[in-house]
Amino acid sequence: MTAEISMQNPEIKPRHMSMPFENIDTPYFFNDNALLSAFFSALSSTFPAGEGEFIASVRLYRDKVQSDKLKDEIRGFIGQEGHHSRQHQRANEILRDLGFDAVKLDKDLEGYIKRHVENRSDKFRLAMTVCMEHLTAILAEHLLTYPETLESLAEPVQDLLYWHAVEEIEHKSVAFDTFMSIEGDQKYLRWCQVYATLFFFHRIGWYTIKLLWWQKKMPSWKDFKGFWRFMTGKKGMFTGVQKNYFDWFKVGFHPWDHDNADLIERWKTEFYREDQDIGAQKAKAKAEAPAA
Ligand SMILES: [Fe+2]
Ligand SMILES: [Fe+2]
Repeated sequence: MTAEISMQNPEIKPRHMSMPFENIDTPYFFNDNALLSAFFSALSSTFPAGEGEFIASVRLYRDKVQSDKLKDEIRGFIGQEGHHSRQHQRANEILRDLGFDAVKLDKDLEGYIKRHVENRSDKFRLAMTVCMEHLTAILAEHLLTYPETLESLAEPVQDLLYWHAVEEIEHKSVAFDTFMSIEGDQKYLRWCQVYATLFFFHRIGWYTIKLLWWQKKMPSWKDFKGFWRFMTGKKGMFTGVQKNYFDWFKVGFHPWDHDNADLIERWKTEFYREDQDIGAQKAKAKAEAPAA
Protein backbone atom coordinates (compact mmCIF):
# COMPACT_ATOMS: atom_id res chain seq x y z
CA MET A 1 0.00 0.00 0.00
CA THR A 2 1.32 3.44 -0.85
CA ALA A 3 0.03 6.41 1.09
CA GLU A 4 -1.29 9.43 -0.72
CA ILE A 5 1.05 12.34 -0.17
CA SER A 6 -0.81 14.98 1.78
CA MET A 7 -1.97 18.06 -0.09
CA GLN A 8 -2.38 20.07 3.10
CA ASN A 9 1.30 20.37 4.00
CA PRO A 10 2.32 23.96 4.68
CA GLU A 11 5.46 25.26 3.00
CA ILE A 12 8.58 23.83 4.65
CA LYS A 13 11.06 26.66 4.66
CA PRO A 14 13.95 26.64 7.13
CA ARG A 15 14.21 29.75 9.30
CA HIS A 16 17.68 30.63 10.49
CA MET A 17 17.00 31.65 14.08
CA SER A 18 19.43 32.43 16.89
CA MET A 19 18.28 32.82 20.48
CA PRO A 20 20.27 34.74 23.13
CA PHE A 21 20.99 31.73 25.36
CA GLU A 22 23.82 33.73 26.94
CA ASN A 23 21.10 35.56 28.90
CA ILE A 24 20.22 32.43 30.87
CA ASP A 25 21.89 32.70 34.26
CA THR A 26 20.68 29.59 36.09
CA PRO A 27 20.40 25.89 35.28
CA TYR A 28 16.95 26.02 36.92
CA PHE A 29 15.51 27.99 34.03
CA PHE A 30 12.07 26.42 34.35
CA ASN A 31 10.43 28.36 37.19
CA ASP A 32 13.33 27.47 39.50
CA ASN A 33 12.15 23.84 39.33
CA ALA A 34 15.21 21.53 39.28
CA LEU A 35 13.26 18.52 37.96
CA LEU A 36 11.49 20.29 35.10
CA SER A 37 14.71 22.12 34.16
CA ALA A 38 16.64 18.84 34.11
CA PHE A 39 13.86 17.23 32.05
CA PHE A 40 13.95 19.98 29.40
CA SER A 41 17.77 19.97 29.43
CA ALA A 42 17.69 16.20 28.86
CA LEU A 43 15.27 16.72 25.99
CA SER A 44 17.51 19.40 24.48
CA SER A 45 20.58 17.17 24.85
CA THR A 46 19.07 14.56 22.53
CA PHE A 47 18.35 16.89 19.62
CA PRO A 48 21.76 17.39 17.93
CA ALA A 49 22.57 13.69 17.62
CA GLY A 50 18.92 12.64 17.23
CA GLU A 51 18.13 15.11 14.48
CA GLY A 52 21.44 14.26 12.79
CA GLU A 53 20.19 10.68 12.55
CA PHE A 54 16.77 11.86 11.27
CA ILE A 55 18.54 13.70 8.45
CA ALA A 56 20.84 10.76 7.68
CA SER A 57 17.96 8.26 7.53
CA VAL A 58 15.88 10.43 5.18
CA ARG A 59 18.95 11.00 2.96
CA LEU A 60 19.19 7.22 2.51
CA TYR A 61 15.89 7.38 0.62
CA ARG A 62 16.09 10.79 -1.04
CA ASP A 63 17.25 9.53 -4.43
CA LYS A 64 14.51 6.91 -4.60
CA VAL A 65 11.70 9.45 -4.21
CA GLN A 66 9.76 10.13 -7.43
CA SER A 67 7.59 13.09 -6.45
CA ASP A 68 9.16 16.53 -7.02
CA LYS A 69 6.96 17.97 -4.27
CA LEU A 70 8.24 15.42 -1.77
CA LYS A 71 11.82 16.03 -2.92
CA ASP A 72 11.34 19.73 -2.14
CA GLU A 73 9.85 18.88 1.22
CA ILE A 74 12.83 16.64 2.03
CA ARG A 75 15.12 19.59 1.30
CA GLY A 76 13.08 21.75 3.68
CA PHE A 77 13.06 19.00 6.31
CA ILE A 78 16.85 18.63 6.20
CA GLY A 79 17.32 22.42 6.42
CA GLN A 80 14.93 22.78 9.36
CA GLU A 81 16.36 19.87 11.34
CA GLY A 82 19.88 21.15 10.69
CA HIS A 83 19.00 24.56 12.18
CA HIS A 84 17.26 22.96 15.18
CA SER A 85 20.27 20.83 15.82
CA ARG A 86 22.63 23.82 15.81
CA GLN A 87 20.48 25.94 18.13
CA HIS A 88 20.09 23.07 20.61
CA GLN A 89 23.84 22.54 20.44
CA ARG A 90 24.31 26.20 21.46
CA ALA A 91 21.74 25.85 24.24
CA ASN A 92 23.43 22.65 25.44
CA GLU A 93 26.79 24.41 25.69
CA ILE A 94 25.26 27.15 27.85
CA LEU A 95 23.50 24.55 30.02
CA ARG A 96 26.81 22.71 30.45
CA ASP A 97 28.49 25.93 31.61
CA LEU A 98 25.67 26.45 34.11
CA GLY A 99 26.01 22.95 35.53
CA PHE A 100 23.74 20.66 33.48
CA ASP A 101 26.14 18.87 31.11
CA ALA A 102 23.81 18.40 28.14
CA VAL A 103 26.86 18.25 25.81
CA LYS A 104 28.10 15.08 27.51
CA LEU A 105 24.66 13.52 27.04
CA ASP A 106 24.62 14.54 23.39
CA LYS A 107 27.94 12.72 22.92
CA ASP A 108 26.51 9.72 24.75
CA LEU A 109 23.54 9.52 22.37
CA GLU A 110 25.81 10.08 19.36
CA GLY A 111 27.88 7.07 20.45
CA TYR A 112 24.76 4.95 20.94
CA ILE A 113 23.49 5.81 17.44
CA LYS A 114 26.88 4.94 15.92
CA ARG A 115 27.03 1.60 17.71
CA HIS A 116 23.40 0.45 17.61
CA VAL A 117 21.48 2.34 14.91
CA GLU A 118 23.79 3.02 11.96
CA ASN A 119 24.37 -0.71 11.46
CA ARG A 120 20.63 -1.44 11.20
CA SER A 121 18.65 -1.65 7.93
CA ASP A 122 17.67 1.52 6.06
CA LYS A 123 14.04 0.59 6.62
CA PHE A 124 14.48 0.42 10.39
CA ARG A 125 16.40 3.70 10.52
CA LEU A 126 13.80 5.62 8.52
CA ALA A 127 10.94 3.98 10.44
CA MET A 128 12.49 5.12 13.74
CA THR A 129 12.71 8.65 12.35
CA VAL A 130 9.08 8.51 11.24
CA CYS A 131 7.99 7.36 14.71
CA MET A 132 10.10 9.97 16.51
CA GLU A 133 8.65 12.62 14.22
CA HIS A 134 5.17 11.59 15.38
CA LEU A 135 6.25 12.00 19.01
CA THR A 136 7.78 15.42 18.37
CA ALA A 137 4.75 16.53 16.32
CA ILE A 138 2.22 15.68 19.03
CA LEU A 139 4.38 17.30 21.72
CA ALA A 140 4.73 20.35 19.45
CA GLU A 141 0.96 20.56 18.99
CA HIS A 142 0.47 20.39 22.73
CA LEU A 143 3.02 23.13 23.50
CA LEU A 144 1.59 25.46 20.87
CA THR A 145 -2.00 24.80 21.93
CA TYR A 146 -1.11 25.67 25.54
CA PRO A 147 1.86 28.05 25.19
CA GLU A 148 1.05 29.40 28.67
CA THR A 149 2.44 26.17 30.15
CA LEU A 150 5.90 27.40 29.13
CA GLU A 151 5.35 30.93 30.45
CA SER A 152 7.69 30.54 33.41
CA LEU A 153 10.63 29.34 31.31
CA ALA A 154 13.63 31.56 30.64
CA GLU A 155 12.64 33.54 27.52
CA PRO A 156 15.31 32.22 25.09
CA VAL A 157 14.34 28.62 25.89
CA GLN A 158 10.66 29.49 25.48
CA ASP A 159 11.36 31.02 22.05
CA LEU A 160 13.50 28.04 21.06
CA LEU A 161 10.73 25.59 21.93
CA TYR A 162 7.96 27.54 20.17
CA TRP A 163 10.00 27.89 16.97
CA HIS A 164 11.13 24.27 17.05
CA ALA A 165 7.54 23.14 17.67
CA VAL A 166 6.24 25.15 14.69
CA GLU A 167 8.74 23.63 12.30
CA GLU A 168 8.11 20.14 13.68
CA ILE A 169 4.47 20.63 12.69
CA GLU A 170 5.39 22.05 9.28
CA HIS A 171 7.50 19.03 8.35
CA LYS A 172 5.70 16.35 10.37
CA SER A 173 4.71 14.19 7.41
CA VAL A 174 7.92 14.36 5.36
CA ALA A 175 9.63 11.27 6.79
CA PHE A 176 6.26 9.46 6.86
CA ASP A 177 5.49 10.24 3.20
CA THR A 178 9.03 9.22 2.22
CA PHE A 179 8.70 5.90 4.06
CA MET A 180 5.24 5.16 2.70
CA SER A 181 6.10 6.08 -0.88
CA ILE A 182 9.02 3.63 -0.94
CA GLU A 183 8.40 0.98 1.73
CA GLY A 184 4.60 1.28 2.01
CA ASP A 185 4.55 -0.76 5.21
CA GLN A 186 2.38 0.97 7.79
CA LYS A 187 2.14 -2.14 9.98
CA TYR A 188 5.90 -1.97 10.47
CA LEU A 189 5.53 1.66 11.59
CA ARG A 190 2.98 0.64 14.21
CA TRP A 191 5.35 -1.92 15.71
CA CYS A 192 8.24 0.48 15.51
CA GLN A 193 6.30 3.13 17.45
CA VAL A 194 6.15 0.88 20.49
CA TYR A 195 9.92 0.52 20.41
CA ALA A 196 10.50 4.22 19.67
CA THR A 197 8.25 5.31 22.57
CA LEU A 198 9.99 3.02 25.07
CA PHE A 199 13.36 4.21 23.81
CA PHE A 200 12.32 7.88 24.07
CA PHE A 201 10.98 7.66 27.64
CA HIS A 202 13.86 5.53 28.83
CA ARG A 203 16.44 7.90 27.33
CA ILE A 204 14.86 11.14 28.59
CA GLY A 205 14.18 9.68 32.03
CA TRP A 206 17.71 8.33 32.37
CA TYR A 207 19.29 11.57 31.13
CA THR A 208 17.16 13.65 33.53
CA ILE A 209 18.40 11.55 36.45
CA LYS A 210 21.99 11.76 35.20
CA LEU A 211 21.91 15.57 35.04
CA LEU A 212 20.61 15.81 38.59
CA TRP A 213 23.04 13.16 39.81
CA TRP A 214 26.07 14.88 38.29
CA GLN A 215 25.03 18.09 39.99
CA LYS A 216 24.29 16.33 43.28
CA LYS A 217 20.90 18.00 43.20
CA MET A 218 17.99 16.33 44.92
CA PRO A 219 14.72 17.91 43.70
CA SER A 220 12.52 19.28 46.47
CA TRP A 221 8.98 18.11 47.19
CA LYS A 222 7.79 21.33 45.52
CA ASP A 223 9.80 20.40 42.38
CA PHE A 224 8.13 16.98 42.24
CA LYS A 225 4.68 18.51 42.64
CA GLY A 226 5.36 21.08 39.90
CA PHE A 227 6.64 18.34 37.59
CA TRP A 228 3.58 16.16 38.24
CA ARG A 229 1.24 19.08 37.59
CA PHE A 230 3.05 19.99 34.36
CA MET A 231 2.80 16.40 33.09
CA THR A 232 -0.63 15.32 34.30
CA GLY A 233 -2.55 18.50 35.20
CA LYS A 234 -5.47 19.97 33.24
CA LYS A 235 -3.16 21.03 30.40
CA GLY A 236 -0.62 18.31 31.21
CA MET A 237 1.95 17.40 28.60
CA PHE A 238 1.70 13.67 29.22
CA THR A 239 -2.09 13.46 29.49
CA GLY A 240 -2.65 16.02 26.74
CA VAL A 241 -0.95 14.06 23.96
CA GLN A 242 -2.45 10.64 24.61
CA LYS A 243 -5.31 10.76 22.12
CA ASN A 244 -3.06 11.98 19.32
CA TYR A 245 -0.44 9.42 20.26
CA PHE A 246 -2.81 6.48 19.96
CA ASP A 247 -4.20 7.71 16.61
CA TRP A 248 -0.92 6.41 15.19
CA PHE A 249 -2.20 2.87 15.59
CA LYS A 250 -5.33 3.45 13.48
CA VAL A 251 -5.17 1.74 10.10
CA GLY A 252 -4.48 4.30 7.36
CA PHE A 253 -3.46 7.11 9.76
CA HIS A 254 -1.62 10.06 8.22
CA PRO A 255 0.13 12.81 10.29
CA TRP A 256 -2.03 15.49 8.66
CA ASP A 257 -5.16 13.78 9.99
CA HIS A 258 -4.25 16.07 12.88
CA ASP A 259 -4.90 19.26 10.98
CA ASN A 260 -3.13 21.86 13.11
CA ALA A 261 -1.68 24.26 10.55
CA ASP A 262 -3.55 27.06 12.38
CA LEU A 263 -0.96 26.77 15.17
CA ILE A 264 1.73 27.86 12.71
CA GLU A 265 -0.25 31.00 11.89
CA ARG A 266 -0.77 31.71 15.58
CA TRP A 267 2.99 31.50 16.21
CA LYS A 268 3.67 33.87 13.31
CA THR A 269 1.41 36.54 14.81
CA GLU A 270 1.99 35.98 18.54
CA PHE A 271 5.46 34.54 19.12
CA TYR A 272 7.66 35.03 16.06
CA ARG A 273 10.52 37.45 16.76
CA GLU A 274 12.31 38.96 13.82
CA ASP A 275 15.20 40.08 16.04
CA GLN A 276 16.07 36.37 16.43
CA ASP A 277 15.62 35.51 12.77
CA ILE A 278 19.08 35.91 11.24
CA GLY A 279 17.86 34.65 7.88
CA ALA A 280 15.09 37.27 7.67
CA GLN A 281 17.47 40.04 8.74
CA LYS A 282 19.99 39.09 6.07
CA ALA A 283 17.28 38.92 3.40
CA LYS A 284 15.96 42.32 4.44
CA ALA A 285 19.42 43.91 4.40
CA LYS A 286 20.06 42.46 0.94
CA ALA A 287 16.73 43.79 -0.39
CA GLU A 288 17.41 47.26 1.03
CA ALA A 289 21.02 47.47 -0.16
CA PRO A 290 21.52 49.90 -3.05
CA ALA A 291 22.16 48.13 -6.34
CA ALA A 292 25.88 48.12 -7.23
FE1 LIG B 1 13.58 19.33 14.90
FE1 LIG C 1 11.44 16.90 13.02
